[in-house]
Order: sequence, then C-alpha cells, then structure tokens
Amino acid sequence: MSDVMLRYAEECDKKILLDWKNDPDTKKASINTGDISEAQHDEWFERTQNNPNQHLFIGFEFGGVRVGTVRFDENVTEDFVEASITVAPKLRGIGYGKKLLSRGCSHFFNNYRYDFIKATIKKDNLRSQKLFEKVGFERSGEKDTNLIYRLRRGGLRE
Ligand SMILES: CC(C)(COP(=O)(O)OP(=O)(O)OC[C@H]1O[C@@H](n2cnc3c(N)ncnc32)[C@H](O)[C@@H]1OP(=O)(O)O)[C@@H](O)C(=O)NCCC(=O)NCCS
Repeated sequence: MSDVMLRYAEECDKKILLDWKNDPDTKKASINTGDISEAQHDEWFERTQNNPNQHLFIGFEFGGVRVGTVRFDENVTEDFVEASITVAPKLRGIGYGKKLLSRGCSHFFNNYRYDFIKATIKKDNLRSQKLFEKVGFERSGEKDTNLIYRLRRGGLRE
C-alpha cells in the first residue's frame, strides 16, 4: 500500500461518492440506511460544496486511485467538529481507514482551532470503533444506538 494523500472533493468525484454511499455496509453504518437517489445525492453534494463549515475530502494514492472519503462538519453554534469516514468497498480491511482518518484529523487540527474532533459510531459497527480507537479517539459517551467518541488535540496516533 502506498501513502494516502488528501484533496478536496470535486464534481468529478460525485459518482464514486454515490456508489460508496449506496454500498450495503456503508448504508448499515449510516443514520439514513436507505438507498440514496442520484437527485438526492446531487442536492447533498451541492449543499456540502457551498457550505464553508463542511469539509469533504477524497483520499487518493500515488497515481490518483481514490481509496475513500473523510468529512469534517463544523457545528459552529455548539462549537464542535464531527468526523465521518468511508473506505472504498473493495479496499476495506487492509489499513486504508487508518491512513485516511489520521491524515484527515492531522490536517484538521493543523488548520482549524478546535481542541476536539467528535465521532458518532453505531454500537454494532465494531470495525469502525476499532479504527477510531487505533487513531487515538476515546469513548466519551453514548446516545441511543450510538457511541460517542472524541479525539483531543495532541492525542492523534499516526
Ligand atoms: C469502518 C471503515 C472506515 C474502516 O476502514 P478499513 O480500512 O476497512 O479499516 P480496517 O478494516 O483496516 O479495520 C480497522 C481495524 O478494525 C478491525 N476489524 C476489521 N473488521 C472487524 C470486525 N468485523 N470487528 C471488529 N474489528 C474489525 C481490523 O482488524 C483493524 O484492526 P487492526 O489494524 O488492529 O487489525 C470501513 O470499513 C468502511 O468504510 N465501512 C463502511 C462505512 C463505515 O462504517 N463508516 C464509519 C461510520 S462511523
């Protein structure tokens, strides 16, 4: 596996992002577990791109192969930022998640003022819990069917 780099998502990533969203394991891990139509996705993508508080990244390898996406949503009123991640379905289970998440969190702490990054993970999503813990997130609570995690500035394990 070569190194993973990040860039902001662009129009040309719309289709692959929709394919990743409609993958069965991604849907199972999401709040919205149903299929997402192209029209809904286009509307979401447009909204995300126009929102200065949402930061949608694509992780790619040397040669440009896209390995996944990581997103940071700033909640300005409540003063926190929340991370979410999806690895390309065919590339799961071989360590891309860790590279993508640690690159993303490192970029975020280097460029923004937040002291913590939050994550909400379903209780049955053991793979994701393990991934976030490996990167340095700690469990800080639970809400309904979800566990709440947070990573403090300085706590990232790369
Ligand atoms: C969750 C996700 C981002 C993890 O990325 P990944 O690259 O697949 O990560 P890995 O498979 O390398 O797994 C990370 C760790 O979990 C472990 N793991 C894998 N499958 C597991 C399972 N079913 N139960 C428990 N642990 C598991 C791995 O062994 C690894 O730990 P290790 O490095 O100590 O061996 C990815 O699987 C994904 O995109 N899933 C669908 C969407 C999703 O769940 N997103 C997160 C929403 S909060």
